[in-house]
Amino acid sequence: MASHKIIIGVTGGIAAYKAAELTRLLVKNDFDVQIVMTESASHFITPLTFQALSGKEVLTSLWKSNANNGMSHIELSRDYDLIVIAPASANFLAKLSHGFADDLLSSLCLARTCPIAVAPAMNVHMWANEATQRNVSQLKKDGVLFFGPDSGEQACGDIGFGRMMDTEELFITIQNHLTPKILKNKKILITSGGTIEMIDDVRAITNLSSGNMGSAIANAAESMGASVTVIKSGNQKFSKNINVIDASNAHSMHEAVLKHIDGQDIFISVAAVSDFTPKEKFNGKLKKDNLDMTLQLKPTIDILKEVGLSKNKIFKVGFAAESENLIENAQKKLKTKNLDLIVANLIHESMGLQDTKVSIIGKNDVIDLPKSNKMVAAKAILEEIAHRINSDK
Ligand SMILES: Cc1cc2nc3c(=O)[nH]c(=O)nc-3n(C[C@H](O)[C@H](O)[C@H](O)COP(=O)(O)O)c2cc1C
Repeated sequence: MASHKIIIGVTGGIAAYKAAELTRLLVKNDFDVQIVMTESASHFITPLTFQALSGKEVLTSLWKSNANNGMSHIELSRDYDLIVIAPASANFLAKLSHGFADDLLSSLCLARTCPIAVAPAMNVHMWANEATQRNVSQLKKDGVLFFGPDSGEQACGDIGFGRMMDTEELFITIQNHLTPKILKNKKILITSGGTIEMIDDVRAITNLSSGNMGSAIANAAESMGASVTVIKSGNQKFSKNINVIDASNAHSMHEAVLKHIDGQDIFISVAAVSDFTPKEKFNGKLKKDNLDMTLQLKPTIDILKEVGLSKNKIFKVGFAAESENLIENAQKKLKTKNLDLIVANLIHESMGLQDTKVSIIGKNDVIDLPKSNKMVAAKAILEEIAHRINSDK
């Protein structure tokens, strides 16, 4: 079953194309999406695009009802968790604030029984106009949520407020709004990404970790109400409220973990930290003439083991990427590193990929999750952590 049911209302503006990417992200992350478009919106992007992305017929007309009693405009929102108008045109904000109901989208908004949010997108002067600002303040008084707008360069060339919120950020905002706050008041420290051990100024020892799992866990934890600090290597995107610290190699990641571990409730080690680093880093770029060169390596500190064996009362979660004997190897790691939980995945089913298939292993149990994208897996892992922390009390 889909995690949430959402209506996306698309109105007429240049940013309508961004609603296609938003739909793709929502569907990929297990949302059930119903698209409703205004007549103007279909001049910017076709209903067919949204039908292909949402897997559902796109609704555009008051007079072509899917409901048995012919009243889609009243029935539609009954079953949904949230309506998001994205992009919301200046015209639509005006209609919404005055209670107009002259097409399907405005009628269903008036008849809604679920919360509504708008993601405005318009020219800076349209946004700043007194009439629009009057409508915005009335809508806020009526309890309509505002996701954006952002400031920046606009399609018309002007610069200022009125741009629709970045699509990925809008997705995270929607997800945050709908997620129960099961990690409220919890402080979580997460390491993420593959470390980079420099050999000379241009070459390095690294690995295939994309950082996707770390960012998925961090963003999902934040949406569940946790206060999140991430120590990361790589270029992943994180929600605005996350404290992000860059640490590209094993040494700097270790230092950053030691600096931030005190006072945390949960430590999740998702980063693929190199087990070895060059004994010595060469300054400049090594030349090819040195044909017989041997690269000398030394082991790095096992950050997870150090945290695991410390007296810290923190709930400790590790990740194990294995090429074989997945469960046995992960259970061994759980024990030797003194962890509360370990998330095990096979390298070829996870590393560097969008999807993953993981098993969550505790001291006395193993839970196999189905293959899913990393956002869905991240939520399931955090729900399990929250469940165990709360039942320990
Ligand atoms: C090329 C073009 C771009 C437009 N872009 C926007 C826009 O970004 N934001 C906006 O509020 N209106 C924009 N408009 C005006 C709306 O499309 C117009 O107000 C329309 O009536 C909105 O209808 P709707 O609110 O029913 O979708 C644009 C119009 C044109 C012709």
